[in-house]
Amino acid sequence: MNNYTSSLESSHFPVMLEEVVKICSPIEGGVYVDCTFGGGNYTKKILKFSGTKVIAIDRDENILHLAKAIEKKYPNRFNFHQKRFSEVGAVASKNKIDAVIFDLGLSSIQLNDLKRGFSFKSKESLDMSMGLSSISAEEVINEYSGHTLKLIIKILGEEKEASRIVKNIIKARSIKKITKVDQLVEIIEKSKKKNYKKKINPSTKTFQALRIFVNKEVTELIKGIINAVKILKPGGKILVISFHSIEDKVVKYFFSNYSSNRSNPSRYLPYNQESSNSLFEEYKNKILKPSNEEISQNSPSRSAKLRYAIRNKNKFIFPKELIVKFKKYLDLENLYA
Ligand SMILES: C[S@@+](CC[C@H](N)C(=O)[O-])C[C@H]1O[C@@H](n2cnc3c(N)ncnc32)[C@H](O)[C@@H]1O
Repeated sequence: MNNYTSSLESSHFPVMLEEVVKICSPIEGGVYVDCTFGGGNYTKKILKFSGTKVIAIDRDENILHLAKAIEKKYPNRFNFHQKRFSEVGAVASKNKIDAVIFDLGLSSIQLNDLKRGFSFKSKESLDMSMGLSSISAEEVINEYSGHTLKLIIKILGEEKEASRIVKNIIKARSIKKITKVDQLVEIIEKSKKKNYKKKINPSTKTFQALRIFVNKEVTELIKGIINAVKILKPGGKILVISFHSIEDKVVKYFFSNYSSNRSNPSRYLPYNQESSNSLFEEYKNKILKPSNEEISQNSPSRSAKLRYAIRNKNKFIFPKELIVKFKKYLDLENLYA
């Protein structure tokens, strides 16, 4: 491996960087929260605007050295917390923040580190924790009942062939413990009907399901966006870049159902900007996607969707409908919590 390749593999190419920064429109004295620091690309770009402050969070201890380097460069304008972003309320003051950013999922730094078991190319242990998880994919695969495994793969991976995959996992683990990524990949490949027209790897959905489960990603997202709203000042923005349909459904529901144009008790009543059960200004359901040029330079960006909403002046109300709507995912992720 030459230096160029190795540095690419240990860095993360940011998704829609210009768009994110434009929406945040950093100003002197503004405070921004980067909930998914990763390679630190959004953070670094915002700190280039003079007099801005960034509070960053990431659950992964492997990126601490990147955060420390930025802390050294901007000792008074940057601080980092190795936490889950559901705890964002503990690191920033209420009603003071100009923008909160969530760039969901894995960084290339994590994906390319084969020891972590996220990549189908790995022959290493089935870990799949982004950090601060209480369980590994190996425990899920070997210790969970067939019924629960099927729910995880079907619901969190949206995998139609979950039954056959689980049947073969149960059979394989009764002979020998499944500890390595390549063992699982082989089982999935044998289980799936061959469909050569499909471009995605046969293991994609099962791996997505396990990763989401191990890291409780839907629970994190729901708690994270609710707590982010508490720290935003009126006019502050919440931005979320999502990569799969469950994430996008959650964000879309939250932004549209708690915006002033949706929270009218009846569509026959006049539009009421002050509707007291809304959290956001009018939401137009607009999605931003990476340009073709960006996708050609960074293919993982192809499934990215950026949505943002603007906090209104209303007092915070707890968005309980969001919890009710996505209860199925919350219950599943917290089955043994
Ligand atoms: C897609 S990367 C972010 C990349 C970053 N925006 C950049 O351009 O360099 C996502 C990061 O968020 C972190 N992450 C994911 N879920 C998290 C959570 N619930 N709490 C804290 N960090 C999380 C991951 O560990 C990963 O480092």
